[in-house]
Amino acid sequence: MTETLRPRRSALYLPASNAKALAKARGLPVDVVILDLEDAVAPEAKVDARAAAVAAVAEGGFGRRELVVRANGLATEWGVDDLAALAKAGPDAVLVPKITGVEDIAAYDRALAGAPAHTRLWVMIETCAVAARLDDVAACAAGTRLAGFVMGTNDLAKEMRARLTPARTPFLPVLTAAVCAARAHGLVVLDGVCNEFRDLGVFRAEVEQGLEFGFDGKTLIHPDQIDPCNAVFSPGMDEIAWAQTIVAAFALPENAGKGAIKVDGKMVELLHLDQARRVLAIAEAIAAD
Ligand code: COA
Ligand code: MG
Repeated sequence: MTETLRPRRSALYLPASNAKALAKARGLPVDVVILDLEDAVAPEAKVDARAAAVAAVAEGGFGRRELVVRANGLATEWGVDDLAALAKAGPDAVLVPKITGVEDIAAYDRALAGAPAHTRLWVMIETCAVAARLDDVAACAAGTRLAGFVMGTNDLAKEMRARLTPARTPFLPVLTAAVCAARAHGLVVLDGVCNEFRDLGVFRAEVEQGLEFGFDGKTLIHPDQIDPCNAVFSPGMDEIAWAQTIVAAFALPENAGKGAIKVDGKMVELLHLDQARRVLAIAEAIAAD
């Protein structure tokens, strides 16, 4: 499976200090597990949480799930030690908070210099400062470990002093810009969390909005959010059938060498063939689980 075709429909956060949640995460049907050392962990529990995350990476048992650890920022009293411990532990990615520009990418990349090659750098998009610099930041993917954007809508709302309404109107320009910057430079891009984990109707609407925006998946805070999130972000039967039709149509001898063809009365171009192949690859990876 190539990196970009790996399903990342659902990415569940859990405080690394919560041993019960950590044990549970190894059996949950999520694509990505994010062990948090940052906002979900109280200051007095930070050091133990770091040790628990390092132990969890060493112990493994997460199967095909991607294992990511969110560190405290380098400017905090825990950041330097978190990054040093995680560089040694070597999870699939280290997620870092509150970046404001390209200098931060350089600093975190340096802090991970000793990490194994497979350890990627993912960054939270959650400050007002970074909102206008998304393309420059994403461009750092060439030449650094940077490989992912994760939206942090709670912190963004706090900084903007905006209201986090179900429609998320104040954040739409930033969500669009983040998806475009990520796509332009080949990054993974995950939507922010929905704090509403008891009302799955509200949650599902927000997941569907994230799919419409083009996100690869959504970050989650509670196990109840996993199934609806996976369902929305998995290619549907209709989408798979349409993709198969397009691939088959372009494979016909009479369509060889053509850039645009007619399929079921609609114009289809080579760009749709690319999209169709991607849908089928993701669907295959999901089915292989
Ligand atoms: N990951 C794994 N397991 C989780 C979980 C998570 N994020 N959230 C809850 N669970 C487990 C609980 O341990 C509990 O397990 P049990 O049935 O074996 O006892 C079960 O799921 C049901 O939990 P529930 O009682 O509904 O929720 P809660 O009141 O215990 O916890 C939260 C609610 C919000 C505190 C909790 O879901 C949480 O910590 N979420 C993650 C927060 C986070 O990491 N935030 C940072 C990014 S925004
Ligand atoms: Mg945050």
